[in-house]
Amino acid sequence: MIEVQHLTKFFGEKLAVDDISFAVDRGEVLGFLGPNAAGKSTTMRMITGFLPPTSGTAAIGGSDIIKNSLQARKKIGYLPENAPAYPDMTVMGFLDFIAGIRGYSGASKKTRMEETIERCFLKEVRYQPISTLSKGFKQRVCFAQSIIHDPEYLIMDEPTDGLDPNQKHEVRIMIGEMALDKTIILSTHILEEVEALCSRAIIIARGRIVADDTPSGLKAESSLHGAVRFTVRKANGNDPLVHLGDIPGIERVDVVSENKSHITFRAFPKNPADPPANEIMDRLVQNDFTIHGFEVESGRLDEVFRLVTSSHAAEVKK
Ligand SMILES: Nc1ncnc2c1ncn2[C@@H]1O[C@H](COP(=O)(O)OP(=O)(O)OP(=O)(O)O)[C@@H](O)[C@H]1O
Ligand SMILES: [Mg+2]
Repeated sequence: MIEVQHLTKFFGEKLAVDDISFAVDRGEVLGFLGPNAAGKSTTMRMITGFLPPTSGTAAIGGSDIIKNSLQARKKIGYLPENAPAYPDMTVMGFLDFIAGIRGYSGASKKTRMEETIERCFLKEVRYQPISTLSKGFKQRVCFAQSIIHDPEYLIMDEPTDGLDPNQKHEVRIMIGEMALDKTIILSTHILEEVEALCSRAIIIARGRIVADDTPSGLKAESSLHGAVRFTVRKANGNDPLVHLGDIPGIERVDVVSENKSHITFRAFPKNPADPPANEIMDRLVQNDFTIHGFEVESGRLDEVFRLVTSSHAAEVKK
């Protein structure tokens, strides 16, 4: 388990992280979200023992990052922001160096290096100096160094930043597999990544936690949660809204888009927990509409992100 207790960081006068506390269990993938400069990387740097907190602390599997720093850091794999690595080293040289620091030697070192190179798709560049690698490959090398010792705890600062769509997909699968028996914290600006990967998300704004929930719990705060969105083929003179008017569970219906042949509506429910989807579907079918799309929306994370990060901004201004 990772336990973060009242972490606070001042850079001079500037408060970058303001009294953050949370705990993450084994098997959880916790996503850190937040606007630029919110304090995500600074929090991760403190949790990994890379940066001393101004106050507060964190414990990694029971080892305090300040009192038991070495023990805590042994258990962690850390992928820092912007993939730092020694540019003059080759990929093999760098991983050999890291494996050595992590305490491996001889055959076990070789096995760990080979496995990691295979896993991170680095075979074709293994003898290339890191300075000559493309951005995405540098990111993979750094990812490789973070998992070479098969750590119990993984802290990854924007792990898919700079990767192509195929690699993003591969890394997400890899993280998903590792999640089964590890504790993972990652930061990202890609909201779909949170939905695809994270069992829980913490949104940070101006150094503070402004939301902490599952991705679906967060989406339930969206104004679109429970809305029924449907597309029908236009029928001469037959307006679907006429047939929906008396459904009691509908708050209002908006037109989302329209072209020559089709029209898309969104019906907002009075109670998002009980959207009147069946009633709407029945009316459309009874009145011979050709239905081209029909879904109950779960809500949009980007809308909730804006909501919680800007309402917090307003609160701070007050
Ligand atoms: N070493 C430093 N010295 C001074 N200020 C710093 C230092 N490191 C970070 N900061 C400041 O702390 C704040 C939080 O930065 P941080 O890098 O944690 O943000 P972030 O949430 O990771 O943002 P991004 O999404 O852009 O990566 C910013 O205002 C930043 O300028
Ligand atoms: Mg950052």
